[in-house]
Amino acid sequence: MVLYSGDVGQLSQMIDSHSRIFVLVDGNTINFCLPLFFEKTRISNFTLIEIPSGENCKNLDTVQKIWSQLVENHADRNSLLINLGGGVVSDMGGFAASCYQRGIGFINVPTTLLSMVDAAVGGKTGVDFQGLKNQIGLFSNPLAVYVDTDFLLTLPVREQKSGLAEMIKYGFISDKSFFDVQLPVSQEFVKRAIDAKEKITQKDPNEAGLRKVLNFGHTVGHAIETYLLDSQNYMLHGEAVAIGIIPALWLSEKYCGLDTKWAGFYKTLYKDKFDYFNLKDLNLNALIEIMRHDKKNADGKIRFVLVSEPEKPHYDIVVEECDIIESLNYLVDFLGDESSFGK
Ligand code: GLY
Repeated sequence: MVLYSGDVGQLSQMIDSHSRIFVLVDGNTINFCLPLFFEKTRISNFTLIEIPSGENCKNLDTVQKIWSQLVENHADRNSLLINLGGGVVSDMGGFAASCYQRGIGFINVPTTLLSMVDAAVGGKTGVDFQGLKNQIGLFSNPLAVYVDTDFLLTLPVREQKSGLAEMIKYGFISDKSFFDVQLPVSQEFVKRAIDAKEKITQKDPNEAGLRKVLNFGHTVGHAIETYLLDSQNYMLHGEAVAIGIIPALWLSEKYCGLDTKWAGFYKTLYKDKFDYFNLKDLNLNALIEIMRHDKKNADGKIRFVLVSEPEKPHYDIVVEECDIIESLNYLVDFLGDESSFGK
C-alpha cells in the first residue's frame, strides 16, 4: 500500500497499532529527515536505530547490528520497524525486519527520489555480499510505503538526478511521457512512476518474467556501479543506470531493430540532464565478469532487457560477449569528450 502526504492520519493509525516502534535512520536522515518525520506523524514513543550511511555499509554486519538493537530493546512479533531513508536503508531494514523472529512488520519512508520511485516499492530487500550487489535478500513487502515529496527539499542535486534516471527509464519501458520529467520532480510525476512500477510488480512480484523489464539499463549499469563500489570515483545507482541505458540502446538496435534515432535522442537527453563521468580506465573484461554474476543471468549467458521501440521492452535477450564489448566501446566513445557535456 502506498500512502501519500494527505494520508498521514492513516499512517499514524497503522504505526500506533504496534507494540513497539523502531525507527531506522542513517547518518544523513537522522539530521535531515527525522525532524520532518516527527513533525508529520507526531510519533513520540519509539527506539531509534542509527546505522552509517552509504552502500559500503549495506552488509550483514550492519544487519546484525540492527538485530542486536531489536533484541536488546525487546522487540516482539508485533513490533514495527520504520525505515527512514534511501534505498540502502529500506533494502537493509526490510531484510532485517523480514528475518527477525521470522518476520515483523515494516514501513518504508523513502527520503530520496530514487527510493520513492524504485527501491522502497515492490518488496525487494537485501544486502551486498562478497562484492556483489544485493546478493543476499528476500522478496518481502512493507506494510506500507509513505511517500512525501517534502523530503526531497533537502536532497542534493546529484541524488535527485540519480532518481530522475530511474524515472526516465520508464520512458523506454512503459510510457514515453517520462522523457519529459524535469527537476525538481512534481508529486504527480512521482506518483505516476510508482503506479508504473506497481503495475508491473503486482503482475510479477518475484521477477519470474515481466518484472525484469524494470532492469532496462541495469545490466551494464549494475556492473559499472559494482566495479566502482570501493573506488573514490563511486557512482550512485541512478547515475549508473543513466549510463547503462546507452549500451542497452546500441544493443537494442542490433538485436531488436530499434530505430537509431532513439540512441541519438537519449544521448542528447543525457547531456542535458546528467553528468560527465570519466570511464576511460574501465576494465571491460572485469565488467563482463561482474555481469556473469548478475542474478538475472543463468548458465553463464548474459541477458539484457532491450527495446524494439519505446514502450516495447523485451527481457531475457541473450547477448554475445563481443557485442557487449562493442556496446561498451560505444559508451566510452560517447563519454570521451568531456567538453561537450553541460552545454
Ligand atoms: N529495481 C527493480 C525492481 O524493483 O525490480
